[in-house]
Amino acid sequence: MISDRETLAMRKALRLAVRGRGNTFPNPMVGAVILAHDGTEAGDGFHRKCGAPHAEAVAISSAGDRVLGGTLVVTLEPCCHQGRTGPCTDRIINAGISRVVVAMEDPDPRVCGRGVEQLRDAGLEVEVGLMSGEAARLNRVYLHYLRTGRSWVTLKMALSLDGRIAAADGTSRWISCEESRKTVHRKRASVGAVMTGAGTVRKDDPELTVRLSALPPSGQPARIILTRSGDLGGSENVIRAPGRVILAYPDSAGPAMKKFRDSRKVELWEMPHDETGGVRLLPLLERTASEGIGEILCEAGPGLSTALLLQDLADSVMVFSAPMLLGGEGRPAFGELGIRSMEKALRLENVTCRRSGSDFLTEGEFVHGTD
Ligand SMILES: NC(=O)c1ccc[n+]([C@@H]2O[C@H](COP(=O)([O-])OP(=O)(O)OC[C@H]3O[C@@H](n4cnc5c(N)ncnc54)[C@H](OP(=O)(O)O)[C@@H]3O)[C@@H](O)[C@H]2O)c1
Repeated sequence: MISDRETLAMRKALRLAVRGRGNTFPNPMVGAVILAHDGTEAGDGFHRKCGAPHAEAVAISSAGDRVLGGTLVVTLEPCCHQGRTGPCTDRIINAGISRVVVAMEDPDPRVCGRGVEQLRDAGLEVEVGLMSGEAARLNRVYLHYLRTGRSWVTLKMALSLDGRIAAADGTSRWISCEESRKTVHRKRASVGAVMTGAGTVRKDDPELTVRLSALPPSGQPARIILTRSGDLGGSENVIRAPGRVILAYPDSAGPAMKKFRDSRKVELWEMPHDETGGVRLLPLLERTASEGIGEILCEAGPGLSTALLLQDLADSVMVFSAPMLLGGEGRPAFGELGIRSMEKALRLENVTCRRSGSDFLTEGEFVHGTD
């Protein structure tokens, strides 16, 4: 039986967990609350960043003596293996906690039910499943990485009401309103990298940085630029702006990238090529994940966005619809996707829709065939 206080505590733990967003990958975001023996709140904590103490340890420390005989309410199954920090299960057992309420099991193969088992074997009462849906949504990037080994990709675009991403002459500034652009800066601040194609760099010369407040360069998301041709000068805003810059190109384009070889600003990622002569996107997204980039915000034109969709590598969208029409002569958001009938439409789930200044923001996740 779950008490009302435990339900409230789980809600709070989920809110706390979010405070680690953008900093915990490849670890999950986790929040925890300790309820003392009498049911009152005694402490809380969250996992601040990868390598920092886990939420359970922070919460136990903050509760002091009141932890004895208390309940730990936590958004993910406690770990039971030695990682950068010790196993949380030992910490929980040694602290004298008598009951643990867990939102969901951790599918990490090193845990995967064994954390719960260890707690039960030590005589603690354990409940699993309270608000598991919310907990899974919170950690969608982490769960996706465990399942697929690749970064989560969110396609962001600003569209006119008739689905155009630019006018006929290729200009797209500004389709979305100022408030929507601020929302994009907040989103950039929460992802590991912003990705675009060289076409957008040449046409719009964007910085793709976070410009909400003064951030140190290390606080900026990495920028990943894809090019087949290498047709970039090196002085574009996206390259000059503070933060890490990665230029990804197919192995066949090596000679065109010579001019960047001595650049201290640009990291060159030579990747296997696909049948179009471009970078194979799956190995690219596996490499980004292995380098600690959990989520990528793709702010590209139709070239790159279409390639991601065709290969089933786009995971969610963030679409701003602006109250304007650009007509049939405007540039469509995507190229051909091979959809010939309604049953082939790419569908979204977990969809939310809200006002964003004078625009509408729709967010949702793609329903993947297989993962
Ligand atoms: N409204 C919006 O939200 C929005 C957002 C972004 C852009 N835009 C508009 O989109 C238009 C640009 O469209 P676009 O299709 O050219 O943009 P894009 O998709 O950003 O860039 C296409 C280019 O990216 C490179 N590329 C794409 N896939 C690649 C792969 N797999 N491997 C290696 N390189 C790859 C190629 O560069 P190379 O040619 O160098 O080989 C390709 O020509 C502009 O008008 C811009 O204003 C609108």
